[in-house]
Amino acid sequence: MFEHVQPYAGDPIFALVDAYNADPRPAKVNLSIGIYFDEQGRLPVLPSVQLAEARILAAAGPKPYLPMEGDAACRAEVAKLLLGADHPAIAAGRVATIQTVGSSGGLKVGADFLKTWLPDAAVWVSDPTWDNHRSMFEGSGFQVHSYPYFDSASGGLRFDAMLETLRGLPKRSIVLLHACCHNPTGVDLSAAQWDALIPVLRDRELLPYLDLAYQGFGDGITEDAYSVRALADAGLTFFVANSFSKSMSVYGERCGALSAVCASAAEAERVMGQLRFTVRRIYSSPAIHAGKIVAHVLGDADLRPMWEAELASMRDRILAMRLALHARLAALLPGRDVGYLLSQRGMFSYTGLSGAQVDALREQHAVYLIRSGRVCIAGLNSANVGRTAEAIAVDRNLARISGVSSPMKDLSSGVSPATGLSATTRMPKGASSTALARVAVMTQPLLALYQPSRGRGLTPAVLAMLSTTPRMP
Ligand SMILES: Cc1ncc(COP(=O)(O)O)c(C=O)c1O
Repeated sequence: MFEHVQPYAGDPIFALVDAYNADPRPAKVNLSIGIYFDEQGRLPVLPSVQLAEARILAAAGPKPYLPMEGDAACRAEVAKLLLGADHPAIAAGRVATIQTVGSSGGLKVGADFLKTWLPDAAVWVSDPTWDNHRSMFEGSGFQVHSYPYFDSASGGLRFDAMLETLRGLPKRSIVLLHACCHNPTGVDLSAAQWDALIPVLRDRELLPYLDLAYQGFGDGITEDAYSVRALADAGLTFFVANSFSKSMSVYGERCGALSAVCASAAEAERVMGQLRFTVRRIYSSPAIHAGKIVAHVLGDADLRPMWEAELASMRDRILAMRLALHARLAALLPGRDVGYLLSQRGMFSYTGLSGAQVDALREQHAVYLIRSGRVCIAGLNSANVGRTAEAIAVDRNLARISGVSSPMKDLSSGVSPATGLSATTRMPKGASSTALARVAVMTQPLLALYQPSRGRGLTPAVLAMLSTTPRMP
């Protein structure tokens, strides 16, 4: 019966995590999987989530099947989180939100829905994108193509090329866009770029499909939802799949949602009906516990601010690690431009390290990255960041991290070789004083690198904070 079944090669990221777990070297560093670890290298359990769960358990409620669309309170909170509580699209009943099995479940339900209702459309994803996007949409029967995105020469965005490609797409093509904290590159569109993209999406009648897996990990909850709100404000019809895996550190609970922002309440109702049917055919209904966690954390007057503070502290720690890695590499590799580490956002950065270099890092230094050269910044902490930077810099061949995969950039003009900060380098927008203070006390060399006279692009407030923070003894 199954003689013809091909072996599954496995998922490269999960395989790498297995290899990491089996590695006996005590100083190993896991920068492979997209999971937030705390300063002690642990997967945090957020107190807001713990309290929500305690309340859920104390209520000792029954566990019926949820409706196909999930928990009503959870769905209402999700719509408000995405669009802002007072968005007119919500008041007008134009938003159809379903609770899903993680955002992966949402992406898949959306993909199956679209294959039924836009069967001739093709899907366009960024080059590169999260590997699973392609698999999911191909699994739903779509042709998947890519639009230009990452600029390996600058470590930034090929925005003009992206726009040009999108302008040439057939009408009603589906365009998958990372709302923030792009996985794998960390390169996001600015607000102005989203504003420039929207007329193209509208004029070409394209269907934007936003993936918002890292809300709050970039610049803040509201800032990271800029694209969602801008598309809604512009009156576009679009999908957004969002996740709480990272933002609530509830990976295995499978908390996510899919929302369709529609042209009218009647359309939203029909879309909602078909989303229900799509769910029914796949997993019937989502997890009751996941829906309750999200509803409690987002909807409770005490838990909500707690969660927002916890999320801010995770974001701050990631930003602190970005700054620390940048400073270490800039110090170890004078003349190399590692400024992209500061411009990129969220958990990930694209280092430009080749597959062979990644292998060498793993084999010689027990530093685990995935072979695309993507580094999970959230796996760094003050105990391993120095070692990681040294491992990257120790071998001149490995140190090509400079101009991403392009030849080394000459930093001679107007840029301090000591800091590696170029005129265009900007500090992470959401870098709060906590993040910067944490960085500042973490390493003395780091503070020295960010002296006001050298730090181009740093805001006066940041510079003042850094210069007054005591140095490490
Ligand atoms: C870009 C992106 N989208 C979606 C997901 C899926 O998240 P989940 O299914 O855990 O909500 C991930 C997880 O890593 C991701 O990186």
